[in-house]
Amino acid sequence: MTGAAGARPAAGPGTRARRIAVIGAGPGGLYFAALAKRAAPEREITVFERDGREDESGFGVVFSDETLDGIAQADPQVFAAIGAEFARWSDIDVRYAGGVRTSGGHGFAALDRNRLRAILRERCAELDVDVRYRTTAPPVERLAAGYDLVVAADGIRSGTRATYPEAFRPDADERHCRYIWLATDKVFEAFTFIVERFDFGTLQVHAYPYSATRSTFIVEIAEDAWRRAGFEALAAREFARGESDTESVRRCAELLAGHLDGHRLIPNASRWIRFTTVRNARWHHRNVVLLGDAAHSAHFSIGSGTKLALEDALALAAALGEQPSLDEALVAYEAERRPVVESTQRAAQASLEWFETVGRRTGQDIDRFAFNLLTRSRRVTYGNLRARDAAFVDAVDTAFGGSPGVPPMFRPLKLGALELRNRVVVPPLATFTSSDTLPGAFDRAQLTGHALGGAGLVLAGMTAVSAEGRATDRCPGLWTDRQEGAWRELVRAVKAVSDTPLGIQLTHAGRRGATAVPGPDGIGRPLAGGWPLLSASAIPWDADSPVPHEANDFQLAAVTADFAAAAERAARAGFDVLELQFGHGHLVSSFLSPLTNQRTDRHGGPLAHRLRLPLEVLTAVRAAWPAGQPLLVRISASDWAPGGTTEAEAVAICRALAEAGADAVDVSTGEVVAHQRPPYGRGYQTPFAELVRSATGLPTVAVGAISGPDDANSVLLAGRADLVAVGRAQLHDPLWTLHAAADQGYTGPGARWPEPWLAGSRKPPGPGADRVAPRLQLLREPPAPVHRRWLPTPPEE
Ligand SMILES: Cc1cc2nc3c(=O)[nH]c(=O)nc-3n(C[C@H](O)[C@H](O)[C@H](O)COP(=O)(O)OP(=O)(O)OC[C@H]3O[C@@H](n4cnc5c(N)ncnc54)[C@H](O)[C@@H]3O)c2cc1C
Ligand SMILES: Cc1cc2nc3c(=O)[nH]c(=O)nc-3n(C[C@H](O)[C@H](O)[C@H](O)COP(=O)(O)O)c2cc1C
Repeated sequence: MTGAAGARPAAGPGTRARRIAVIGAGPGGLYFAALAKRAAPEREITVFERDGREDESGFGVVFSDETLDGIAQADPQVFAAIGAEFARWSDIDVRYAGGVRTSGGHGFAALDRNRLRAILRERCAELDVDVRYRTTAPPVERLAAGYDLVVAADGIRSGTRATYPEAFRPDADERHCRYIWLATDKVFEAFTFIVERFDFGTLQVHAYPYSATRSTFIVEIAEDAWRRAGFEALAAREFARGESDTESVRRCAELLAGHLDGHRLIPNASRWIRFTTVRNARWHHRNVVLLGDAAHSAHFSIGSGTKLALEDALALAAALGEQPSLDEALVAYEAERRPVVESTQRAAQASLEWFETVGRRTGQDIDRFAFNLLTRSRRVTYGNLRARDAAFVDAVDTAFGGSPGVPPMFRPLKLGALELRNRVVVPPLATFTSSDTLPGAFDRAQLTGHALGGAGLVLAGMTAVSAEGRATDRCPGLWTDRQEGAWRELVRAVKAVSDTPLGIQLTHAGRRGATAVPGPDGIGRPLAGGWPLLSASAIPWDADSPVPHEANDFQLAAVTADFAAAAERAARAGFDVLELQFGHGHLVSSFLSPLTNQRTDRHGGPLAHRLRLPLEVLTAVRAAWPAGQPLLVRISASDWAPGGTTEAEAVAICRALAEAGADAVDVSTGEVVAHQRPPYGRGYQTPFAELVRSATGLPTVAVGAISGPDDANSVLLAGRADLVAVGRAQLHDPLWTLHAAADQGYTGPGARWPEPWLAGSRKPPGPGADRVAPRLQLLREPPAPVHRRWLPTPPEE
């Protein structure tokens, strides 16, 4: 028996962990051991670490101010020790296209990862934690039997996780870029992103100082560019344990010599690897709990791995103290940490995808590129960048053709011959209140409300081009004179009180038709006594849905003619803008997606064939719709299901739509197949708008969980889209746009309050608005400077 498993029986529920085994003396394992021992000195804590005490791995780690607060509170002694070694600065430098742009006010602290481990190790020794180096942990089952609690802090390749796959249900997502983790003796003054274009592709560096003599220097490159650059050939040999790929390091130094100013790149077991995002459905199993990288990983580009591991340690140690039983402590630990980790992982995912696709933005000028890079994870926004360093955002604003004081969302846009006063769109939001296929009183009320609410463009919800094309029996249509008259009357009524341009979305719902009004999930169940459905192929939406007919040529010609006729009626009814619904699994969408189009005729097979119906419809509508009046097309740029529309296809579709006369694409995703798995989250569809815009040059509308004005400003200023469509948030607050103007102190022509409401155009004072804070300090601390750089005194020779 190893010394691990003692004679004492494991504690059952209702008792707190007295004997604890920790697997791994990384920052997570050591910090947990120190905190848990400090909280209850009677605990026996043993840490197993397979590497030696002095084995060095990695270089510097960087923290934000927020994490530091947690560390400061939890163990002031550890905080004082690491604080004394910090490199501190506040700037981010973006080096790109031969220039540098700097954004200040961020607040970073970094230190040598090995010093961090040494400080934590010393703290463990002081507290009498038994840390055993060069000791591989005994099998976890054995530890679990002999200890009250086993903390698996055994890193990203956790053996513990692999021992209980059914309990933890891990998911390891290996990403597309290659990276190599290095240091340099060039001391960067700030967090530095370097993005360099070469003939083989784009290469990026994430660099930051961590001492008076060193910086971390991570080189990252997309897989195909990595091959073209010759790295694959250099890396194609066996490396001994701990050996570095010195040839690749030399090549990196050559390529990046212009940024190294004669300094060296310093490897330490450095080789090209791919980042793996680790997620686990559960973090604990009986008395075994995962912590740090073993439980979750987050891409290094947001510098959060060590931070998360330390925060986990803090939460677990606290839960053991606060909860009455071990079981409850483990549940509380996971409940506290999971939302934080998932939110960080969402940000890290957006960030890593941004770098994987960095080539999409390398056509941008440096100001916009720098802003785009800084806002890539969606955590840093226009608003908080402005609060940190207003001069930086002003400079980007100006480069974007705006003037400081005019938020990007309030800049005008010319679409066709129509000038929109700002960049906010109310997307199609069906009301499902029609009777007898006519727009009803609520449609009028909703459109009036939104037209008065300040958006630059308001679109009416889906409107069927034929009776069979309705999604539900409460949807309006536009195929009869009576419907046209009702819409004309509605448009006249809205325009009597507002000059906001109005548009309408035309659709044939295809196999998504004949449903009841959708429930809270947005999906309508099949309507009893519905009508026959048409689709590209005879595949039902789901097991409960009727099988649609595969549309024949005769039916498709009729559909095309219906769209064109409805477009003419929409123009006569007074609409300024038309949107065609080519997404969300409706009839035209069913032709585009390979998941719903399995035809073998001229409309099936390769994309060029699948595009036939969409292009025929668009061409017919363009001819029927007045020249100069904007024509938008909504697409689902991804089906969020294996085998669905690819990014390359989405781009090709949009190129074809542009050639056939679309003025802009409203870039949505999903709702094409019932088994979709969209990664819902703030702005989750925006990368597709950016993809289409950068690849085709076509104006795009970004849509989907763009909930705040800050998100809208970020999307626009980064050049991810030309317009932002805000749906549910404008149902929550139909005056969303005007309120956004008031909140941002904007009063120009981009936000026009209705005359009769002008008295309400200023935000009403809230409770306490007239309260003036008394002086609380004798000497006020001067505000922190916006730009703080790391300028250490060089050590003496
Ligand atoms: C390129 C790169 C850059 C990074 N930059 C940053 C950064 O700037 N900021 C930041 O916060 N994070 C950064 N990270 C992430 C950071 O390194 C990790 O997230 C962090 O070290 C996780 O701590 P941990 O304690 O969970 O695991 P680890 O530090 O991986 O420690 C796990 C330990 O367990 C030991 N072990 C494993 N199995 C056994 C066993 N069976 N028996 C005994 N011992 C075992 C290992 O030897 C290891 O020492 C970066 C990561 C990479 C790859
Ligand atoms: C009540 C409601 C009705 C909707 N109706 C339509 C519609 O008729 N046509 C359409 O393409 N999308 C429709 N959508 C989707 C929205 O246009 C938009 O794409 C979606 O709500 C995501 O944006 P959001 O996160 O800002 O709400 C509807 C959404 C809601 C909530």
